[in-house]
Amino acid sequence: MEAAAGTGLRCSLNPVPNPRKISARVRFTTKRQPCAATCRPLLLRPSASAYTAAIDSGAGGYSGANKRLAVFVSGGGSNFRSIHEAALGGKVNGDVAVLVTDKPGCGGADYARCNGIPVVVFPKSKSAPEGVSTDELLNVLRDLKVDFVLLAGYLKLIPGELVQAFPRSMLNIHPSLLPAFGGKGYYGSKVHKAVIASGARYSGPTVHFVDEQFDTGRTLAQRVVPVLANDTPEQLAARVLHEEHQVYVEAVAALCEDRIVWREDGVPLITSQANPNEYM
Ligand code: GAR
Repeated sequence: MEAAAGTGLRCSLNPVPNPRKISARVRFTTKRQPCAATCRPLLLRPSASAYTAAIDSGAGGYSGANKRLAVFVSGGGSNFRSIHEAALGGKVNGDVAVLVTDKPGCGGADYARCNGIPVVVFPKSKSAPEGVSTDELLNVLRDLKVDFVLLAGYLKLIPGELVQAFPRSMLNIHPSLLPAFGGKGYYGSKVHKAVIASGARYSGPTVHFVDEQFDTGRTLAQRVVPVLANDTPEQLAARVLHEEHQVYVEAVAALCEDRIVWREDGVPLITSQANPNEYM
């Protein structure tokens, strides 16, 4: 479904790849969404048929050398949206091939459906019986030829098999300056409350590679924001989130352009686009 011409709103129902060609038991979500309620104008959007063609033909994607991205989301999906828009606008040499979520009704999943991005529910749970197992998800990611996995507010621990399947190829964003205020239980507003209560004067997002624990993988990029004397957790969260949208896009752009080098001691660094001998 395309929205009426002249509204400036571009919105499509989720294109449903042939599940038999993707993986025997996995089903992409097919529920029709009232997209107009959640879609905002987009300048560019790949057509649904382009996605279906890329998936059905097993081709590497509709835009040649672009990397194929899987984004994992549990909530509103503003980081997912900023990455998707950067990809559509050419700032990131990547295509979002699939959205993975443990919360099929979340804002991020709605945004994916509205933009023709297949949605896979993971893991299976009481509230999400349509979810897939780790093996099934791995098959889907392989069938979709996913190069990189990006966690963007996905709150479940990633199983070891999945981490191992994407060595140096899985990123997460966390809303504090890791290693401070990270680990199990530190997510969303809990992080910002703890930062304010600690008296820290600075906070900011961290983009890091994912290992088998919460928030302990190697740091790739950070941004710093001030913590103001009268900040509420909501005010601090908004200041940090603004930086998240910039730093995650920059890190993903570097990943897709092969601009990450690993120092001898295992620290990943981003090289500048203009000069490969300079680091960002
Ligand atoms: C972001 O602030 C992200 O850093 C955080 O969840 C939010 C998701 O927002 N992630 C964590 O706390 C992970 N430990 P979004 O859905 O609007 O992108």
